[in-house]
Amino acid sequence: MTQSPKIYVAGHRGMVGSAIVRQLQTQGQPADRIVTRTHADLDLTNQVAVDAFFAAEKPDQVYLAAAKVGGIHANYTYPAEFIYQNLMMQANVIDAAFRNGVQKLLFLGSSCIYPKLADQPMREDALLTGALEPTNEPYAIAKIAGIKLCESYNRQYGQSHGVDYRSVMPTNLYGPGDNYHPENSHVIPALIRRFHEAKVNQAPSVTIWGTGTPKREFLYVDDMAAASVHVMNLPQATYIQYTQPMLSHINVGYGQDVTILEVAQAVASTLGYTGVIQTDSTKPDGTPRKLMDSTRLNALGWKAKVRLDVGLKVAYEDFLANYAV
Ligand SMILES: NC(=O)c1ccc[n+]([C@@H]2O[C@H](COP(=O)([O-])OP(=O)(O)OC[C@H]3O[C@@H](n4cnc5c(N)ncnc54)[C@H](OP(=O)(O)O)[C@@H]3O)[C@@H](O)[C@H]2O)c1
Repeated sequence: MTQSPKIYVAGHRGMVGSAIVRQLQTQGQPADRIVTRTHADLDLTNQVAVDAFFAAEKPDQVYLAAAKVGGIHANYTYPAEFIYQNLMMQANVIDAAFRNGVQKLLFLGSSCIYPKLADQPMREDALLTGALEPTNEPYAIAKIAGIKLCESYNRQYGQSHGVDYRSVMPTNLYGPGDNYHPENSHVIPALIRRFHEAKVNQAPSVTIWGTGTPKREFLYVDDMAAASVHVMNLPQATYIQYTQPMLSHINVGYGQDVTILEVAQAVASTLGYTGVIQTDSTKPDGTPRKLMDSTRLNALGWKAKVRLDVGLKVAYEDFLANYAV
């Protein structure tokens, strides 16, 4: 009997990394063939420590889901940390993986790699066709560098060393393990916290920023993890058929977007909040629409499964169990 591959999941305590571990186990990967390290045990910005870890563990595959992640406020306040730490983590992990014989690696990026004014839905070939959104440009540049690291190692070492490093770019994610920080969270966790507080305090109304009309796409994190494992395990010939050596990343979206008001209504209904939802058009709306084109991934045989109302229920249960005050 052949042994299961030894898989290193970097960032296994994060929202996405923990979902990837769950997904691998659901698909039969034995727990003792999944390697993890906490941030405290292995700082991925430390090249010497990362090299020593790979030399000792010699994993067969790597899911790179560790990153410094944050909302607009954090990106704007700590741009140096966002670009430096993400560049270092990626460079260290990808190079150490190569030097220690890892042939299969999956890098996780983000939809913010695309130009601010990219055509909607955003296709993979919109990459590097225009200026980025300034608020998270340093983070986006690091993520673009991550894609280009994977591609460059494939181009230089694919033939000689069997290197096959792939990249996936998820849309907005939500689900268990999300960040519910009051100032520093994404749309869905921020709405869950606000509606939960309104419900507990019996507030008659909740006001959301802007007109409520901008459209956004949301993907449940376990769907993202399933897509990641799917892309990692695609036969190389299939991956090559649907990508190009210098345009190799794959969008991972839900395939449909909803207005901010609709998502607020869905959150309110999940929580059982019965007050009024008001909009505040004096506050900025942001981009009118942000939707990924997931045609490439669909053609590769994967489609999102978890509907927003279903995913929100699990996310709220997780919030109640772990974060509610
Ligand atoms: N969340 C989303 O909506 C979303 C959307 C699109 C793309 N993504 C991408 O998905 C990936 C994972 O995101 P996530 O939401 O799961 O983030 P997360 O919950 O913040 O998890 C990131 C993990 O990386 C670890 N980490 C950070 N710096 C590290 C370091 N120097 N050394 C070792 N570990 C370190 C963190 O550990 P500590 O907490 O201990 O620092 C954390 O466990 C990222 O690449 C992100 O860009 C996320």
